[in-house]
Amino acid sequence: MKLWQGRFATPIAADADAFNESLSFDKKLYKVDITASLAHSEMLCRCGVISETDKNAIHDGLNGILQDIEAGKLIIEGQEDIHSFVENELVSRIGEAGKRLHTARSRNDQVATDFRLYVRESATQVIGLLKNLIATLIDLSEKHLSNIMPGYTHLRKAQPINCAQYFNAYSEMFMRDAERFQDALKRINVMPLGSGALAGTSYPINREITREILGFASLSQNSLDAVSDRDFVAEYLFDCSLVMAHLSRLCEDTILYTSTEFGFWEMPDAYSTGSSIMPQKKNPDISELVRGKTGRVYGDLMAILTTIKGVPLAYNKDLQEDKEGLFDAEKTVKDSLAVYTSMLQQITLNVKRMEKAAAEDFTCATDVADYLAKHGVPFRTAHGIVGKIVRYCLNENKTLESMTMDEYKAHSEVFESDILKVVKAKNSANARTSVGGSSRQSAKAGIKSLKNRLKKL
Ligand code: ARG
Repeated sequence: MKLWQGRFATPIAADADAFNESLSFDKKLYKVDITASLAHSEMLCRCGVISETDKNAIHDGLNGILQDIEAGKLIIEGQEDIHSFVENELVSRIGEAGKRLHTARSRNDQVATDFRLYVRESATQVIGLLKNLIATLIDLSEKHLSNIMPGYTHLRKAQPINCAQYFNAYSEMFMRDAERFQDALKRINVMPLGSGALAGTSYPINREITREILGFASLSQNSLDAVSDRDFVAEYLFDCSLVMAHLSRLCEDTILYTSTEFGFWEMPDAYSTGSSIMPQKKNPDISELVRGKTGRVYGDLMAILTTIKGVPLAYNKDLQEDKEGLFDAEKTVKDSLAVYTSMLQQITLNVKRMEKAAAEDFTCATDVADYLAKHGVPFRTAHGIVGKIVRYCLNENKTLESMTMDEYKAHSEVFESDILKVVKAKNSANARTSVGGSSRQSAKAGIKSLKNRLKKL
């Protein structure tokens, strides 16, 4: 039976019912729905709206429903949504007292409350997964603090960098993501319960009591807004989207660096896949899937933004569309973070190959220009001289390291023998001691700073 059947002469048509229902997906909210109903009935009792006897019956009934669902004894089916399901089940178990549960409440403030409880828990879990990933990246940074690799711009070798600085860069991104979720929690953790259908309630309720029981940080301040606000869903999905964007970049690097062309990292067999026809293949499907799944999370964000834009005050059924996208993004982000972290824990670095690559292809050319500039040559002039040196090397099949002192002198009198140290890749990386730079010392400071922030998350 519908909660709202009284006004209607005929039951809802089967196709309309099937189209209207949300139980098939909002059954995920059973626990938060029961938690919120326990708090609501407790508050109603303390405010004298329902009797102690009714409250106790409601609590026993709700706790029994929760236990039976979790034990697999009660299947969630046959109703319009999770709120109808729990209420109908309660009434069938405890009778009249169950019919008092919905006093001073509407499904509109109920669903908004349930969903905020759910999203609050979910955001906290995503922060936990981000912390694991950052810790794994920091482990790699510490392990490879003395190693260098080529740094790229335009996917062309640019300058030698410290390996720890590389991993720290991703830690910074995921740190921002975790902080972003924490900031969003300030707006998620606001309680709409007590807003009624749209206009509040005339019962002598005390919203503070429910707020405290449910652990919300504050109360919504406008009932019209509270029942129809889904900003927190859009914000959660935006935060998920950025996590996926950052993961996707890391996956792209992983795909490149584990290829034979780069040969920088070795993917663990346990996180690789093969080909049904080419026996030699070792494919990076996990990384490709994370990269691919980024699209669906962006889609979930676009969907909610589009859904809310035309919704007149206050609640409209459009808002039921808030759930499936969020569940989809939540699963995608959690699964992606977990599997990528596990894979990264087993990845090994081919240090020799990376360090060799870091020294090749004139990666220290900027250092040579800087050398001249530090000795008084205007940087733009120095840039031109080094450009010619590179061209000379390419013609003569030489490197900056194999150039003789005479050859350097032929390009500029300013060069002295110390230039031969400047063009060593490790020295180049270590010379960049600016805050956040590629030197070992800067990368070490970066790790320290990340660890401090990780502790505070
Ligand atoms: N299933 C609904 C939703 O998710 C619950 C609220 C229904 N409210 C209403 N006035 N029909 O939005």
